Amino acid sequence: MQKTIFPEGFLWGGATAANQCEGAWNVDGKGMSVADCSRYKGDLDPSDYKGHHTISSKDIEEAMESNDTARYPKRHGIDFYHRYIEDLDLFQEMGFKCLRVSIQWTRIYPSGMEETPNESGLKYYEDLFRAMQKRGIEPLVTLHHYEMPLYLSNHYDGWYQREVVDLFLKFCKTVYRRYNGLVKYWLTFNEIDSAFRHPFTTAGLVEDRYPEEKWEEIVYQSIHNQFVASALATKYLHEMIPGAQMGCMITRTLTYPENCHPQNMLLALKENRKNFYYSDVQVRGEYPSHIKKEWKRNKIHIVFGEEDEKILKDYPVDFISFSYYMSRVSTIDDTNKEQVSGNLTSGVKNPYLETSEWNWQIDPTGLCISLIELYDRYDKPLFIVENGLGSTDRIEADGSIQDDYRIRYYKDHIQAIADAIEEGVEVMGYTPWGCIDLVSMSTCQMTKRYGFIYVDLDDEGNGSYDRKKKKSFEWYKEVIATNGSHF
Ligand code: BG6
Repeated sequence: MQKTIFPEGFLWGGATAANQCEGAWNVDGKGMSVADCSRYKGDLDPSDYKGHHTISSKDIEEAMESNDTARYPKRHGIDFYHRYIEDLDLFQEMGFKCLRVSIQWTRIYPSGMEETPNESGLKYYEDLFRAMQKRGIEPLVTLHHYEMPLYLSNHYDGWYQREVVDLFLKFCKTVYRRYNGLVKYWLTFNEIDSAFRHPFTTAGLVEDRYPEEKWEEIVYQSIHNQFVASALATKYLHEMIPGAQMGCMITRTLTYPENCHPQNMLLALKENRKNFYYSDVQVRGEYPSHIKKEWKRNKIHIVFGEEDEKILKDYPVDFISFSYYMSRVSTIDDTNKEQVSGNLTSGVKNPYLETSEWNWQIDPTGLCISLIELYDRYDKPLFIVENGLGSTDRIEADGSIQDDYRIRYYKDHIQAIADAIEEGVEVMGYTPWGCIDLVSMSTCQMTKRYGFIYVDLDDEGNGSYDRKKKKSFEWYKEVIATNGSHF
């Protein structure tokens, strides 16, 4: 491709989450988060979607008593906490305009309950943002990326209890105050739609603590509390940092019908609008009527604070961000049909698509479809803040890593973005996931690698933590240098 399609100032970069890369889980006053309870699950079958996401109260008790970082790999991450200067230098060399990071709530308020913030935590992120600024890398900061204080899960039922909204806002105001002038782009909740898929990670909810018949209501209530927190976090951002922008963040789980049978079409439509409900609330500022109907049908009672409807309406987000890894297929009849699943969702196999080593269906066209659909629906700028291929990488005899499969994956997806831009879609930027190898969210593996930069670390936590450029490093550098004209 030769023509420049990507707009001037397009935010090329990469994405990370603190709990998957920082490590240093218990240093400088950091409290324990839900992520520190995630144990290694590479021993499970990749298709065991449920198994990767279930956590019991017994699992949590065990985690609280353990100091084992190999069993709980997010505790060591890739030691970004101590090595971020080296990593930022590499990102700068690639030409990054933007880097997505998250702030761990537990570095600032270790249990969520403290009156005063932890200065070491505040200082760490200030240094990080200053180092980014020095290198011309714009931070894109997620306030809540699967890492809420464990204390709040244990003592407030995670996001189920309304008090957590205020505790979260205390954290938001603290970081806005401190990083005013350093951070312009913010995101509230990472993949806010995932509370039903992985309730503990997303909302601090542990299934066996509640009666089964109440479960759905509890999850919906927790999501509602997050919506309100998101709207208020947007309000305070605009008040405290004029000119800053807030985005919502959803997993785009694009669903295709298995065929043109009208019942399959209807099913896919319903599943897609269920995915859109999360952005509807944060962008349009109100619940879609189908969700309220569903609550009524299923006798789900959600407690709204007196002002909630007004809060949601008054403080919508400025832009829409999303992760996109794959599409899925749904059908009214899945008898004898091959199933596929990823960390995101499951469905029947799409015969037109290849799958990754972890069984995720690779679908660049689906990214173009998602961009067009989201833009047509909301007419707001879009930001692709996660996309990528999890794969094992091999080090060749000469020490190189020839990850042509990753280059091919990105070529196809960048082409899909260009196609959407040609269709009139406004795209702010693209930050591929795990631009440096990091610990997997769902399985806690290191061998499931996404990066342009290799990290010498295995699933058992052995390795030097040394960084090494993969072939895709030079390739992505060229993409950025030409603003997407060559790839
Ligand atoms: C997204 C999450 O769902 O998928 C990331 O926001 C995660 O935190 C990414 O790492 C890839 O999933 P996994 O399980 O391969 O790490």
